[in-house]
This record gives sequence, C-alpha cells and structure tokens, in this order.
Amino acid sequence: MNYRHHFHAANFADVLKHATLLRLVAGLQAKEKGFLYLDSHAGRGGYDLTAAATGTTREREAEWPNGLGRIWGRRDLPPELQAYVEAVRVFDQTTRTASGGGKAEGDFPRFYPGSPWLAQAALRVQDRALLCERQPDEAAALADSFRGVRRCSVQAMDGYTAVRAYLPPPERRALVLIDPPFEAADEWTNVITALREGLARLPGGTFAVWYPLTARARVDAFYRQLLALSKLPPCYTVELLIAGDGAALKVWGCGLLVINPPWGSARPLDAMARWLAPVLAQGDGAAGGVHWLVPEV
Ligand SMILES: C[S@@+](CC[C@H](N)C(=O)[O-])C[C@H]1O[C@@H](n2cnc3c(N)ncnc32)[C@H](O)[C@@H]1O
Repeated sequence: MNYRHHFHAANFADVLKHATLLRLVAGLQAKEKGFLYLDSHAGRGGYDLTAAATGTTREREAEWPNGLGRIWGRRDLPPELQAYVEAVRVFDQTTRTASGGGKAEGDFPRFYPGSPWLAQAALRVQDRALLCERQPDEAAALADSFRGVRRCSVQAMDGYTAVRAYLPPPERRALVLIDPPFEAADEWTNVITALREGLARLPGGTFAVWYPLTARARVDAFYRQLLALSKLPPCYTVELLIAGDGAALKVWGCGLLVINPPWGSARPLDAMARWLAPVLAQGDGAAGGVHWLVPEV
C-alpha cells in the first residue's frame, strides 16, 4: 500500500469528514458520560501543507487549495464549518509555536490537523482516544506526535482488528471513525465486516465511515450490503458531490455513513453539505446533503 494522506490533506473530502467528525463529537458530548473515540485508520495525526505538493515520494498537485483553501477566510460559514476552521486555526498556531514558526502561503494555515488531533482537541477529561494506524512510518509519526498526551493511546495495528479488540469499551459508549484509503479491492467488504462485528459488540455505538464516490453503482452495492445487516440501527449518509457522476474527475465526491448518529446532528450537517456543494464545486452537478438509510423512530 502506497497511500499517504499528505497529498489529500485538507482537500474537499477532509473538509466534509473533519467538520462532520467535530459535529459528531459535540453530539456525543451532549451526555455527561465519557466515551471512547476509536480512530481505526488514523494517519500520521497532522500534516504540513507546504509539503502537500511533494508528499513523501513524488511531486503532485496539492489538493488543499480546492478544499480548505476555498473556505478559509470566509465570514459566512455555517456553524459546523466555523467550528472546524477555528479548530484548524488553533492547531496551526500551536504547531507553529512548537516547531519554531514556519511560513505558510499567504494567510493560509501551514499545519493541518488530521482526525486524531481534531478529535483529541475536542475531548473532555472523561473521554479518551485510541488511534490505530497500520503503515509503520505513519504509525511512528503518530506515536511521536502523541507522546505524553493524556487519555490518548496509539496502536500500530490493523484498524479492523482494533474494532474487534477494543469494543465494547468499559465506558460502553464509543465514536468509531473508519477512514480507509479504499485502495484495496476488498476494502468495502472489510468495512461491512467491521460494522457487523462492531455493532454486535456495541449495538449503541456511533460508527462513522468515510467513503469515496467514484462509481455510483459501487456505493449503491455498499448500501445494499449494509441494509442486509440484521438489526441495523438508525443511520444516514452525508454526501458532498463536487461534480456530477459523469465528470472527468476520478473522485467526484465522498460521503460519510453515520450509524447511531447523535440526536439532532442530521439537520445541521445537511445544511453544511448543501452550503459546501457550490463553494467546493469542480464541475457541473455539485450537490450535498443528508439522506437517511434507516430513519430514527
Ligand atoms: C485516509 S487516511 C487516514 C486519514 C485520517 N483518518 C485523517 O482524517 O486525518 C487512511 C490511513 O489508513 C492507513 N491504513 C491503511 N490500511 C489500514 C488498516 N487496515 N488499518 C489501519 N490503518 C490502515 C493508511 O496508512 C492511511 O494512513
């Protein structure tokens, strides 16, 4: 596997994923009781956007200018995106201070938090995080950056195994983010298996799965496999299409499947995705919104 998140950091998919993640964390925190945040495919934790064009291997066009770059500095953001942009600003400033500065491009941030740091910054004292990453270099960087951080542990391991191994947590509450690279042909099947096993272990757990929109038929098949799971709890998808599915783009959109969503999260995420669609559009047919697969009763 050659996947490195560096190229993709802060692209349109990260904007949707990370703003949604923060909304889900806030939703779980409506209850006082602590929970486990389990990040099964955590990446390296944070990214230097000035290196995003080179990643770790070869040159490639950075993707953040068409993602975070289009909303940074806007004053008309919906509340979910305000919270997200503010979290990025804090991470950028803290990391610059810790690393002795560093210039960004213009007024843009230089350092971008991945899901581990975004979630960690939002956790309360009664919450904790478990971050799993299988790729050895990324796992080492993640462990390095989280060394000494309280209530956070890093495991260099397969994220699907972690879902089996760490659920149910002692807290009996969890938010599980499953964010695979979707490079392997069996990724979709692995996700379904992990959801089946995770829900069997913690039926009330909140599971969020990021997925790419490259072929509508592939995603429809995923929904069918999902709906075939027995006792599937309430779930919705929040999707963002930056172009229609006939577009020349390889990835013309993405979505998050959210199982057992926190109460009241669908409406603001729907508004956020609708707002993002024209702003992040890269072709005709951009659209966004929430669609319930199994409605709340
Ligand atoms: C999309 S990136 C994660 C980005 C991160 N969640 C974020 O939002 O900042 C996917 C990561 O999963 C890692 N990975 C791939 N297969 C894995 C597996 N089976 N278990 C754990 N990590 C895996 C890759 O090395 C990569 O770092």
